[in-house]
Amino acid sequence: MNERKSGLVEQQNKVNITTQDVLILAIETSCDETAASVVRNGREVLSDIIYTQIALHTCYGGVVPEIASRKHIEKMNQVIEEALKQAQVTLQDITAIAVTYGPGLVGALLVGVSTAKAISFAAEIPLVGVHHISGHISANYIEHQELEPPFVCLVASGGHSHLVVVKDYGEYEIIGRTRDDAAGEAFDKVARAIGLGYPGGPKIDMLSKEGNPDAISFPRAKVAENEYDFSFSGLKSAVLNYLNSCQMKGITICQADVAASFQKAVVDVLVEHSLHAVKEFGYDKFAIAGGVASNSTLRKAFEEECAKRKIQFFHPSPRLCTDNAAMIGAAGYYEYQKGVTHGYDLNAVPNLSL
Ligand code: KG4
Ligand code: ZN
Repeated sequence: MNERKSGLVEQQNKVNITTQDVLILAIETSCDETAASVVRNGREVLSDIIYTQIALHTCYGGVVPEIASRKHIEKMNQVIEEALKQAQVTLQDITAIAVTYGPGLVGALLVGVSTAKAISFAAEIPLVGVHHISGHISANYIEHQELEPPFVCLVASGGHSHLVVVKDYGEYEIIGRTRDDAAGEAFDKVARAIGLGYPGGPKIDMLSKEGNPDAISFPRAKVAENEYDFSFSGLKSAVLNYLNSCQMKGITICQADVAASFQKAVVDVLVEHSLHAVKEFGYDKFAIAGGVASNSTLRKAFEEECAKRKIQFFHPSPRLCTDNAAMIGAAGYYEYQKGVTHGYDLNAVPNLSL
């Protein structure tokens, strides 16, 4: 099994569990990662198991939903058993089971939700449904023990580009969103167009280090109706037009320059909109989350700009930015503490709103 183990695990699972501890067994299967984790008191990761299906989908150039669901079924129990084993706990120690129930691929979500319901019923453990984006945001609580709401968070993943005011634990106000493609989607599509393949984000991130970000001037879109909204489809078209015109003129493109110039255009827009929102809404704390938040140029740009503007900047480690179950455990803990539990009628909701 391809397990990406957290560095935190070995150090922390030597700590004894007390009766006051709230232990969440968390499950995440919304896309192409089969993941389970045990999280103590919302902030401490006792185990974090991820079976990543990336290799399985690479030859198709993207995630094939049916293949993802089947693989989740095959790996789910194994991943949960491993999470309990690594945390050195049994189901008897678990206080509640948290599971992602949306948004995501319906078949993939159903595997996690059905499994969580079955364990909840059989072991008589409360069930807590978690919003995937709430999970991404909550990854910051694991990494930054001192972080408490309120703050502004940019969630940039394969399916979402949201600017969110985190008013309290699990309480969100979306102030900006993408009008078309999500940031990660743009990375994936441009990577495919320049021949890098799937998944595009990490490949563009790596290749950009060898390119000149100022080589090609790509547009930075503003949305007239809402200054905090994003639009990436014009940028994607500009890259495609550039590639076509080079091909017609017989010019060989420099992949690294295209990657770096495209990445710079995305980063500029994400940084400008986000920090404008932080200032206008009067906050002094800003966090990033989601797969794109692991982008090295984006992290560096936010670090520099936040330092200049005296804004405290929070970001999960790259492993906690992309899909994982520990973040679902953190979000599930705060839901459970608020008294939120779900019945056995909990269903997968592919377009669940925040
Ligand atoms: O959060 P995530 O793992 O799954 C969703 O909830 O969508 O995000 C996946 C997205 C993909 O589009 C992937 O290309 C992008 O995050 N991504 C990156 C990087 N790592 C992953 N984008 C830019 N730079 C990266 N280093
Ligand atoms: Zn995600």
